[in-house]
Parts: sequence; C-alpha cells; structure tokens
Amino acid sequence: MDVSESTLNLSLNKLAGKVAIVTGGASGIGEATARLFADHGARMVVIADIQDDLGNQVAASIGTDRCSYFHCDVADEDQVKRLVESTVNIYGHLDVMFSNAGIFSPSDQTILDLNVSEMDTLFTVNVRGMAACVKHAARVMVKKRVRGSIVCTASVMGNVGCPTETDYCMSKHAVVGLMRAASVQLAARGIRVNSVSPNGMVTPLTSKKRGMSEEDLRERYRKYAWLEGVDLTPKHVADAVLFLASSDSEFITGHDLKVDGSLTQL
Ligand SMILES: NC(=O)c1ccc[n+]([C@@H]2O[C@H](COP(=O)([O-])OP(=O)(O)OC[C@H]3O[C@@H](n4cnc5c(N)ncnc54)[C@H](O)[C@@H]3O)[C@@H](O)[C@H]2O)c1
Repeated sequence: MDVSESTLNLSLNKLAGKVAIVTGGASGIGEATARLFADHGARMVVIADIQDDLGNQVAASIGTDRCSYFHCDVADEDQVKRLVESTVNIYGHLDVMFSNAGIFSPSDQTILDLNVSEMDTLFTVNVRGMAACVKHAARVMVKKRVRGSIVCTASVMGNVGCPTETDYCMSKHAVVGLMRAASVQLAARGIRVNSVSPNGMVTPLTSKKRGMSEEDLRERYRKYAWLEGVDLTPKHVADAVLFLASSDSEFITGHDLKVDGSLTQL
C-alpha cells in the first residue's frame, strides 16, 4: 500500500471499530448519519426510532452486519436506558451517541396562542428525550471508561428567536443548554459533548409540517440561507456530525456547530 492509499483509507474510516447509537435514525438527518457512520467503518450503528418498519428497512439496506434497529421512544427514559444497556451488552461498549430524534408541534404556536399541551408533548421528545439519551450514554461511557463523543441535534432555532413555533424554538435552546452543561460536567472524564444546529431543509419532518411539495419547500429554505449555490441536505448535517463524532474534533467540546449557510450571523 503506498502513502496515498493509506491516507485515503484513514480518511474513509473515521469511525473504525466504533459502536454508535443514532436516535431518529429511520429518517432524514438520522438516516443520512447512520449511513455515513457505517461507510466510515463503524463496527455497529444502532438505529433507535419508533418507526419500526422504516428503521428495520434502513438497517437492512445498510447491512445487518454493520447496522441494527432497536425500537425506542426517547420520551420514555426506561426505553432509553434499555437501548443503551442492550447496545453495551451486545457490542461491549458505546463510543458515540447521536441524540437526534425530534418533532414539531402540529400548530404554529406564537406566544399569543401557545398550546401548552402540545408544548408538553413536544418537550417530552425534544428536551426530556434528548436529556435521557445524553444521561444514559454518558453513564455507560463513564462506567466503561470510554472517551466517547455525544452529539445532539439542536437547530438554528436554538440560537435565534422566530416568528412562530415558539415551543420548538424553546426546546432547541434547551438542547444547546443541555449540551453546554453536559460538556462541562463530562470533560474531566474525557467525554466530549457537542451539538449541530442545522438550517431548514427538506426532510419528512418539514415536508409533513409545511404540507408543500419538495421543490416549493426547497425554494422556501433557499431564502433562509445566505450561502448561494447549494441547498442544505441531511448529508451536509451528517458530515458535521461525523466530524464531531470522530477524532477529527478531538479537542472540541461544548461547541454548537452551525450548518446554516450563515443564517445566524446576521
Ligand atoms: N429538517 C430540518 O429542517 C431541521 C432543521 C434543524 C433541526 N432539525 C432537527 O433534526 C432532527 C431530525 O429531524 P429530521 O428533519 O431528520 O426529521 P425526520 O422526521 O425525517 O426524522 C426524525 C426521526 O425521529 C423519529 N422520532 C420522532 N419521535 C421520536 C421518539 N419519541 N423516539 C424516537 N424517535 C423518534 C422519527 O420517527 C423520525 O424517524 C430533529 O431533532 C429536528 O428537530 C431538523
């Protein structure tokens, strides 16, 4: 093997031998990330989701030797604990937790018409679920003395205010706060905690919420990114997550990586 071949191998295997969990991995950003983790040599990627058929299909298409599916509603802490414990029991340890599952409320929710019941439901997934995933991943990493990487999906809406979707905006600010607190608390154990904050893009989540064709939705999101000539896709976010999950970001913790085409810099 010459030098260029070995360099290529290294750059293609950023997660060689690692065990990773991807919540919300049956669709959108989570699915793209599960695929990328497997492409980068992860020993096992465990997709955790509530869409069992889709999750199993994605795992099968990646290859059951590299990817498995586990039913887990992140809103239920016991299920999150079982997910993490079963991963460690089967594969020995946990190196990467990508805590990504998230939802929108059905209504638009300005503060004047905030539906607090919908807000409670949203918080059980976007905030409580996110915290449970960070907590149980961190616990097994501490127990097994793994210098792991935890990545959470926040949002541009966790960094700025917004005209509607108040509850979603609040929940994503909470994710950034969770990431910052956990990064400080886990640093002494060598565990890194970061987040990604994507701009809006076409995924099943946003297509369902907006009820628009993919092309119309893409056009709408173009207006929210200052960067010209490229449309944000789940793969762009997956690339950022891979960077944070791998040793490429070995000294980076407590960082919210914006994948937003400069939206939040205005
Ligand atoms: N699409 C965007 O424009 C955008 C922008 C910024 C941030 N985000 C965030 O990215 C993350 C992924 O969103 P996406 O756009 O890929 O959506 P998506 O709907 O395509 O994927 C989300 C996945 O999470 C799963 N999920 C939902 N509730 C769950 C629960 N209780 N337990 C386990 N899994 C659950 C869904 O079944 C789905 O497979 C979310 O946290 C979302 O808030 C999305």
